[in-house]
Amino acid sequence: MKIPIFLTPLFLCLFISLVQGQTQNPKCDIQDHGSTLKVFHVFSQCSPFKPSKPMSWEESVLQLQAKDQTRMQYLSSLVAGRSVVPVASARQIIQSPTYIVKAKIGTPPQTLLLALDTSNDAAWVPCTGCLGCSTSKPFAPAKSTTFKNVGCGSTQCRQVPNPTCGGSACAFNFTYGSSTIAASVVQDTLTLATDPIPSYTFGCVQKTTGSSAPPQGLLGLGRGPLSLLAQTQNLYQSTFSYCLPSFKSVNFSGSLRLGPVAQPKRIRFTPLLRNPRRSSLYYVNLVAIKVGRRIVDIPPTALAFNPTTGAGTIFDSGTVFTRLVEPVYTAVRNEFRRRVGPKLIVTTLGGFDTCYNVPIVAPNITFMFSGLNVTLPPDNTLIHSTAGSTTCLAMAAAPDNVNSVLNVIANMQQQNHRVLFDVPNSRLGVAREVCT
Ligand SMILES: *[C@@H]1O[C@H](CO)[C@@H](O)[C@H](O)[C@H]1NC(C)=O
Ligand SMILES: *[C@@H]1O[C@H](CO)[C@@H](O)[C@H](O)[C@H]1NC(C)=O
Ligand SMILES: *[C@@H]1O[C@H](CO)[C@@H](O)[C@H](O)[C@H]1NC(C)=O
Ligand SMILES: *[C@@H]1O[C@H](CO)[C@@H](O)[C@H](O)[C@H]1NC(C)=O
Repeated sequence: MKIPIFLTPLFLCLFISLVQGQTQNPKCDIQDHGSTLKVFHVFSQCSPFKPSKPMSWEESVLQLQAKDQTRMQYLSSLVAGRSVVPVASARQIIQSPTYIVKAKIGTPPQTLLLALDTSNDAAWVPCTGCLGCSTSKPFAPAKSTTFKNVGCGSTQCRQVPNPTCGGSACAFNFTYGSSTIAASVVQDTLTLATDPIPSYTFGCVQKTTGSSAPPQGLLGLGRGPLSLLAQTQNLYQSTFSYCLPSFKSVNFSGSLRLGPVAQPKRIRFTPLLRNPRRSSLYYVNLVAIKVGRRIVDIPPTALAFNPTTGAGTIFDSGTVFTRLVEPVYTAVRNEFRRRVGPKLIVTTLGGFDTCYNVPIVAPNITFMFSGLNVTLPPDNTLIHSTAGSTTCLAMAAAPDNVNSVLNVIANMQQQNHRVLFDVPNSRLGVAREVCT
């Protein structure tokens, strides 16, 4: 008789050591203080969503890229104002969110690890009985004394996209990446760090298809109706900042700081631009890009902000690798290759077309926004294989099958920087900071 692999002593041993590894690391005992939450990369040692078996470097890069592909299609559908469900790439996308924070919902509080998403407004969590949700620990409304359904006639029900009314409770369906999600609109106390937010309106997910929905839910940091910012005006005054840790630094967490208190004073800003058609996205004015000391030649139309078409540049926490529209990427890539010199480009890796298998000296890349230059050191622009034998420029052109007009400054390029979203003053600040 064959013994199933999961009953073998070796498997049990591995399983126990994994579980202990997670609880023994003191950094994983997340105690959030004040209005500051620790931010973890999903691949970090402290994340329950980290891959169960170690992935090779190539596998993890390809997986992150596949996820980005779906996200780009999704963001493009957002800016185009179409509500299409993008076709998921053939490769299975198992990791959806990149960064997570701990939130508590209900009374007594139930802990959930929510994905951060600056390009979405609403918060939603899987609820008991959800069909297709991938968590074994959904939110249990029945166990909370402060839980309420939101009625059909309420203001909140009118703020969700395409509300439907079954009986008297308000519900809505939406797409997220390659997933479709059906949720009821509910309220309960949300506790972030030590701040309780009573009667917070969010989606209680009843049914989902596809694999893009983060396992324990999402915290939208966009600035539209029903967003965290809109619901905590008095408490946080539409101001927050984060420092995103690199996924290589497994023992480091970053932070999400809510509210104007304790934000950095010495930080440079660029104006935030408002696109009335896509009110949740954080557009900025990218005017040029420098590779080394040379400003690359880019047709100005490729960077121009256009609220009608959705064209322009956004900061996004959910895309991993920066995507530039084709003429912009080509100009940056060509100058990068020229600066690195005539070394043999041995390979392409997934969507990266500038990879070397010899050591290189890479130029800094500077994004020049109105009033703010952000110079990225090679740590933010290069991805190295674990063995150190392959190095790629970690940016790409928008995928071919997306008619994209959007440049996305993604999270790898934001890592180890504090990014401050100051909505009342319509500005976004960036400063170098090592996330700890
Ligand atoms: C991370 O922390 C754990 C437990 O404190 C330690 O055993 C491990 O060596 C650390 N890893 C790194 C890469 O620092
Ligand atoms: C929303 O999704 C649910 C569950 O899949 C479905 O029964 C319902 O008809 C959908 N409503 C709309 C308006 O599409
Ligand atoms: C990159 O920028 C840093 C400062 O941000 C500077 O110290 C370093 O010399 C620059 N590297 C190159 C190759 O220009
Ligand atoms: C950004 O860099 C450009 C070119 O190096 C320079 O002319 C400009 O003054 C800088 N802007 C700021 C705000 O530092």
